[in-house]
Amino acid sequence: METMLSGGSRFVRACLRQPVDCIPVWFLRQAGRYMPEYQAVRREHSLLAICKSPEIAAEVTITAAEKLDVDAAIIFADLLLPLEPMGLDFTFTAGEGPVVHRPIRSAADIAALCTDRTAELGYVAQAIKRVVGHFGRSKGMIGFCGAPFTLASYMIEGGGSKHYIETKKLIYRDPGAWQALMETLVTVLTEFARQQVEAGADTIQIFDSWVGALSVTDYREFALPMTTRLIQSVQAMGVPVIYFGVDTAMLLPAMRETGADVIGLDWRTPLDAGWKALGPGCGVQGNLDPIALFAPEKLLRARVEEILRQADGRAGHIFNVGHGIVPETPVENVQSVVRWVREICAEMQAERSAGMIAGRKI
Ligand code: CP3
Repeated sequence: METMLSGGSRFVRACLRQPVDCIPVWFLRQAGRYMPEYQAVRREHSLLAICKSPEIAAEVTITAAEKLDVDAAIIFADLLLPLEPMGLDFTFTAGEGPVVHRPIRSAADIAALCTDRTAELGYVAQAIKRVVGHFGRSKGMIGFCGAPFTLASYMIEGGGSKHYIETKKLIYRDPGAWQALMETLVTVLTEFARQQVEAGADTIQIFDSWVGALSVTDYREFALPMTTRLIQSVQAMGVPVIYFGVDTAMLLPAMRETGADVIGLDWRTPLDAGWKALGPGCGVQGNLDPIALFAPEKLLRARVEEILRQADGRAGHIFNVGHGIVPETPVENVQSVVRWVREICAEMQAERSAGMIAGRKI
């Protein structure tokens, strides 16, 4: 299936808004717990042990990408890995998600964070090398990291949060400490992204999963500047950046100002409205509701087609879910979506060329 056009994989070409033979497709959290192969590995190893073993992380990444026949592999890792070399220990508790043992709450806590131990994350780059060794450039190789706001929120809240009270208290009451934290994170994340690019990642996705907790004013004042610095530093390494957040309908024009090559839309925003809000000069990734993967075939196919028709073959669309695939999702439905994306793209191309021929006849 991996048709190569000159100048890179279908996936990377779409990130750069170059013409492609078919819209590329991959899925947020494509290698997770809904997959029996992952569950089998997970029975033997903890999540962190999988992330820290380049051999196992590469195997999990490759298995998912091959089984789904997607156009890009995303390295198996977790958003929180950079916290450890910054001096913050955490654990994943079943059902509850990550728990940071000693959350940071003060300027002194922030000053104590380490920025010179990023080399300890080298296992992610080693895993990327293995995946690139396997796929070559037939599929995109996505490296990733968190955006500074989303990672800071885990460091301050100590885990997931509903109202982000501690994070916003720090932002509002001690903006100098917040700025220091943002700068510390950008230093570490830029270095982490560099390791991944040097190992062969040809795209970096930056997850700002919880940025929708911010008003547009607070986003502009407290998140946009340092996110922009991170994104532009990564682009200077020579790879496109996909910038993704959830609940971002009102934030899209501001997110666009980061200069990211592609913005990942959550599933609540109609793709055509989201693209319009972003304006020209930027690609769009998304944005099927991941829970639609539980729907019967007819409805699911209709949702896939709706998204492709809204994108209308414009250069720069990457098909994806609008947030991560959840456990229990039927794997065969995910595989069907990949098939349908390719079928519907071919149909739309045929319609377009028939339209052109008809147009010439008139
Ligand atoms: O599909 C893949 O390639 C998975 C790789 C991956 C993981 N985490 C492994 C993981 C990716 C891309 C992530 C990113 C991540 N991690 C995000 C951003 C993506 C998003 O959904 O917005 C966030 C917010 C995290 C932090 C995190 N890690 C949470 C909140 C949780 C618990 C909730 C959950 O989904 O289980 C994790 C645990 C985690 N990370 C799991 C996996 C496969 C599941 C737990 C396990 O296997 O034990």
